Amino acid sequence: MSDDDQPQEDTTPVTGPRDADRPGEDVLTDPRPGGRPREDAPTGSHDGDRPGEGVLTEPGPGGRAREDAVTVTGLRYAFGGTTAVDGLDLTVTSGEVFGLLGPNGAGKTTAIRCVTTLLPVPAGMVRVFGHDVTTDKMAVRRLLGYVPQQLSADAGLTGRENVALFARVFDVPRRERAARVAQALEAVGLAEVADRMAGTYSGGMVRRLELAQALISSPRLLILDEPTIGLDPIARTGVWDHIMAVRAASGMTVLVTTHYMDEADQYCDRVALMHQGRVRALGTPRRLTDDLRARLGDGASPTLEDVFRDVAGSGLDDLDKGGEFRDVRRTRRTAARVG
Ligand SMILES: Nc1ncnc2c1ncn2[C@@H]1O[C@H](COP(=O)(O)OP(=O)(O)OP(=O)(O)O)[C@@H](O)[C@H]1O
Ligand SMILES: [Mg+2]
Repeated sequence: MSDDDQPQEDTTPVTGPRDADRPGEDVLTDPRPGGRPREDAPTGSHDGDRPGEGVLTEPGPGGRAREDAVTVTGLRYAFGGTTAVDGLDLTVTSGEVFGLLGPNGAGKTTAIRCVTTLLPVPAGMVRVFGHDVTTDKMAVRRLLGYVPQQLSADAGLTGRENVALFARVFDVPRRERAARVAQALEAVGLAEVADRMAGTYSGGMVRRLELAQALISSPRLLILDEPTIGLDPIARTGVWDHIMAVRAASGMTVLVTTHYMDEADQYCDRVALMHQGRVRALGTPRRLTDDLRARLGDGASPTLEDVFRDVAGSGLDDLDKGGEFRDVRRTRRTAARVG
């Protein structure tokens, strides 16, 4: 399977990563002067729902009264013969921090890219604050900020210039731009180094810069795909501190993927454990560990990592389904660039 084997992919122009594996991917916006998020003709079709199987569910904080930020029903996506997402059902409640967890190749990034409108929805349905991502793509794009798994900052621009580019693309009014850019850089702790080339930033600083880029449009939904991969523990905490501070101030919803179970445990209100394209367990970290403890019996004190291992099981070694060479290669490249 080659990277080119994505006939349905939205190839919306590139914001930046000049050294990306697949230029043009994972980008919501066109940064060229006068560029605007592109509105494409809808692709794919909706062919019905399929309830999740074997899913442990639990109401989100606040229960059903809260608006849903993301609703995914029966989502399927295949790259050629490889099924990446296989009947995914997921609801992210407004205001929560929701963690999408799962082993390499589980389908997290693919699912997220369907939510961001970067990939079409060939089967199933995806809504963001009630807007269908297929029929109401531009409305969805206006509501979200996205930090992709691949790096998206431009090393050849300063931090301030990188964020200013996003401000222009997202139509932040000209007279507000300088202040909003400064505010976003301040919010992620980069004010002091804002005029240095992003290429001189450490991995943690780059990730925080991308956070500032994603926050410039004041999104209601912030989507972060492995925001802390390859970072040292202090830099990881730094990134999370800024995410949580902005979230506390704005009430935005956060959908995040991570391989770090300690992060998920500490910061996520609820997590979904995805494996082979589907959600296998869902709930608060506490609830999931309690459930496993109940199954293991007295004396056991399982962590979220134990729940992860329990759900992913032998699939972690299943090279036909996940953890393929390309996944490892992709993750390492990302980590190398960040670190
Ligand atoms: N562009 C692509 N072309 C072909 N196959 C792909 C492509 N992107 C993903 N896949 C395949 O789809 C499946 C799901 O990949 P995806 O990147 O969504 O997983 P993930 O859960 O994000 O993994 P990771 O934790 O490694 O980031 C994998 O089998 C992967 O090899
Ligand atoms: Mg991924």
